[in-house]
Amino acid sequence: MGYISVAIDGPSGAGKSTVARAAAARLGFVYVDTGAMYRAIGLAVCRKGIAGEDAAGIIAALPEIDVRLSYQDGAQHVLLCGEDVSDAIRTPEIAYYASKVSAVPEVRKFLLDVQRDMAKKGNILMDGRDIGTVILPDAPVKIFLTASAEKRAERRYLELCQKDRQLTRESVLHDIVERDRQDMTRAAAPLRQADDAVLLDTSDMTLDESIEAVLQIIREKTED
Ligand code: DC
Repeated sequence: MGYISVAIDGPSGAGKSTVARAAAARLGFVYVDTGAMYRAIGLAVCRKGIAGEDAAGIIAALPEIDVRLSYQDGAQHVLLCGEDVSDAIRTPEIAYYASKVSAVPEVRKFLLDVQRDMAKKGNILMDGRDIGTVILPDAPVKIFLTASAEKRAERRYLELCQKDRQLTRESVLHDIVERDRQDMTRAAAPLRQADDAVLLDTSDMTLDESIEAVLQIIREKTED
């Protein structure tokens, strides 16, 4: 029996990671946050003083970059050359760098094998932008999880404002709309719903309802 892969894609701030992590825990699947891997590369690039627009500089830096996910007590940790950067990657600045590096085809290729290998080792629930379209096109369950830009901005604002008091709702909405544009219009593996993915709009759902809806889709797709 092969392992089950669940692909969850969607725009930033749709609650993918929170929903996916909870659903994976309920199912006993390993949760793979591919956005965290792009963020780790973004952090490495930022620390090296390379500009987000400098694709050649980013490509040249790749051989020195090692990104891994490790799991301790069920929690995912992101390791950049062995350093735990799980917290350091959660800033708006690194989100910006992640979006920039993720548009570089060589960066995507760099992570493709790592991500596919993880799906060969066990039951996984992987979230990202191109999991159902590029990374795991044969996944038996594909979900495109989204919500309106306003709802996503509000959620992200509530999440980030405790850490950063300078932040405004307007700036968060602006960042989300800009990141959507970059992720959907880039040439390399743009964000789009796979033809065989189930669309789940969580604009008017609570977190618990969203988790339940994801579990229901997985049950339906894996029962037969
Ligand atoms: O989901 P996130 O906000 O942590 O993702 C960070 C960036 O990485 C985002 O701009 C999109 C990009 N990304 C991607 O291009 N492909 C993925 N599979 C996951 C994330």
